[in-house]
Amino acid sequence: MTDIDLDYDLAQEIIDEIKTDPMGGWLSLPDTPAEDIDKIKALAKTVRNSSDFLVCIGIGGSYLGTRAIYEALDLDSTAKCRLLFAGNSLSSRELKKLLHLLDGHDFSLNVISKSGTTLEPALAFRILKAALVKKYGKDGARQRIIATTDPSAGALREEATAEGYQTFAIANGIGGRYSVLSPVGLFPLAVAGCNIEKLLMGARECRETQLDCDDLKHSMLVEYAFSRFYLYDELGCDVEVLASFEPSLLYFNEWWKQLFGESEGKDHRGIFPASVIYSTDLHSLGQYLQDGRRNIFETFLRFSPETGSLTVPKLDNATDGLDYLEGRSLTEISNKALDATLKAHDAGGISTFEIAVLDDETTTGISERSLGFLIFFFEVACALSATLLGVDPFDQPGVEKYKKEMFKLLGKPSKTA
Ligand code: PA5
Repeated sequence: MTDIDLDYDLAQEIIDEIKTDPMGGWLSLPDTPAEDIDKIKALAKTVRNSSDFLVCIGIGGSYLGTRAIYEALDLDSTAKCRLLFAGNSLSSRELKKLLHLLDGHDFSLNVISKSGTTLEPALAFRILKAALVKKYGKDGARQRIIATTDPSAGALREEATAEGYQTFAIANGIGGRYSVLSPVGLFPLAVAGCNIEKLLMGARECRETQLDCDDLKHSMLVEYAFSRFYLYDELGCDVEVLASFEPSLLYFNEWWKQLFGESEGKDHRGIFPASVIYSTDLHSLGQYLQDGRRNIFETFLRFSPETGSLTVPKLDNATDGLDYLEGRSLTEISNKALDATLKAHDAGGISTFEIAVLDDETTTGISERSLGFLIFFFEVACALSATLLGVDPFDQPGVEKYKKEMFKLLGKPSKTA
């Protein structure tokens, strides 16, 4: 990315600080005990066997990570029980569409809210619960609701206890946007057929090689976190663009933007996280990246090549000018486009960073293991660079402001505020 003298002692100091922070509990999620995994898998099996759909109700950190992995692995095309997502907006149209989709199908609900009081998921839950009760009766519905929430506090925990729902606890020390490797993400993903052990294995590998390594000089994670801070602080680059060449990473981008945006955007400071999917966006934002304002740096993701990629067929008497590509795979062509874009943007004065997550065991390019690695990589990098920036990586005071105004306009009684 850029040649800077990294202060590895400072890096170690911050890592130690994060490890002992009361909100650093997510650092141990890669070591989730086998009995917790077994519980998740057992309930996932029950849901899979009784439902065509599991509706995941949640927003922000209680939503985006799960969707990111579900889409990146294209689990929708293989899942016996498919995931649907609700409670992530206030759109009546979206919820109506979802209810229509559920019509005539067996379904269960996984309501996910750490606080248990967030308006969007709470409203969607109320509406979907009514549909569930209508279909299965009160008792039947109760058995099809799984609540993932705080271990003891909040309206959702209270309701779950009173109604006897199955529950998963989001342990203290795990904030929303750092929670995808907890039951928040692991349970619905297990329902959809994701190999959650491999996901955690990838995260463990990241921790071992990037954080707990003998010498932080070999840690790309530390290099990334410090470089992005240097680019911001010294060179005035206040926009980071996450770039990849795989459309199924659209929601991974959304997860990443939430992680960095909510962690760093404070006190009128912070790098604005943006994203592109190439080559689609080379015909759109690519122009800006190449020639627009130079306040941007770009982080590219590269995955292992997919085996069995489509290849360019041989054509007799072809007139499309593509003979030079005959027999070559789309994966190879896409990788060449990535190399070319890196070169062009470098030459155009954009600082670029490449994170290659290669998994020799995968045939699909993007695997559970590579995603687990990347998720952990970015979570730690985010906590590190927010600390360098001088802001708290784990709070989100700004999110409360709109809520206050909205509740005033909606006439929420103050004693329940
Ligand atoms: O990262 C965060 O903490 C937030 O994005 C929360 O996940 C989001 O606001 C949802 O909160 P809750 O899980 O309490 O409903």
